[in-house]
Amino acid sequence: MSQFSGKTAVISGGAEGIGLSIAKALGDQKMNIVLADIDQEKLQEASLELKDAGISVLAVALDVANETQWQRVAELAVARFGKIHMVVNNAGVGGASGSIENEQTKSWHWALDVNLMGVMYGAKVMVPLIKQHGEGGWIVNVASMAGMGGVPYNGAYTATKTAVVALSESWAGELHSKGIKVSVLCPAFVKTRIYASERNRPAQYQTDNANVTDKPKAPNKTKGMVENGIDVSIVGKRVVEALNQGELYIFTHPNYRAVVQQRFEAIDAAFERAAQSPLLQHIVNQKLDML
Ligand SMILES: NC(=O)c1ccc[n+]([C@@H]2O[C@H](COP(=O)([O-])OP(=O)(O)OC[C@H]3O[C@@H](n4cnc5c(N)ncnc54)[C@H](O)[C@@H]3O)[C@@H](O)[C@H]2O)c1
Repeated sequence: MSQFSGKTAVISGGAEGIGLSIAKALGDQKMNIVLADIDQEKLQEASLELKDAGISVLAVALDVANETQWQRVAELAVARFGKIHMVVNNAGVGGASGSIENEQTKSWHWALDVNLMGVMYGAKVMVPLIKQHGEGGWIVNVASMAGMGGVPYNGAYTATKTAVVALSESWAGELHSKGIKVSVLCPAFVKTRIYASERNRPAQYQTDNANVTDKPKAPNKTKGMVENGIDVSIVGKRVVEALNQGELYIFTHPNYRAVVQQRFEAIDAAFERAAQSPLLQHIVNQKLDML
């Protein structure tokens, strides 16, 4: 029997794309699925699709940037399924891209509120409920390869995804002894509608030129790359595979390994130069003070 069988997962942004793919894969493992999404129409469609596949599902409206709405999701999930074992913090938006001098403050707040605060609220509300029953559980945060190295002209998105990787590492250390495993999914391009995130931008984050991109010679490049991405159905199955292996970092694009290796080599080389600096010889071999 699968370790997931009969347990309950709450999945934000579960109405389509990567969230729905994860919902299907966990549902195939006989998990109860709570789909939570800002797009109510897509949410109903996704919920019917899962029900038709014989998966126990509850659909709840949620804007991940709203902590009170997260609490309502938790209440409804517990009322329906009794316990919560997993939260998949998947909802995310592309945020506006462009050069530094054209950054839009409202676009930054939108990306930060959804991609970062949404992840924090998801954990803050669900972790106490997972701890409560003592059966252990999982937090799966959806970051990106953009969280593994800076992407030019994508400041806000890169900042949020890098933060989600770091948060996941922080929570893994905090929750290890509580029997809650933390994983962070870092995909490169996957065929979804992420390039059309503007459809989910609430009124308070609207700017006069939210759709303007001033990337030099790269109009609609992201759309093309996403459309050439891997099939979304692979991602959910890959998440189940990696959770069964107890992975902290979940990758979907082994061909991006060289990018991360280059970054680590650059960091390592910079440490070597620091180790050679006459200014720092007194601490080269000093014992580490770590929390
Ligand atoms: N597709 C890719 O190439 C790719 C690559 C790396 C990371 N990701 C990440 O994967 C996650 C899922 O994206 P996707 O590619 O499936 O995109 P998508 O646009 O197809 O799906 C995103 C889902 O999140 C929902 N959503 C948006 N704002 C929300 C909010 N405020 N509250 C609740 N739900 C909200 C949308 O309605 C939608 O159902 C995101 O975090 C994204 O950053 C995607």
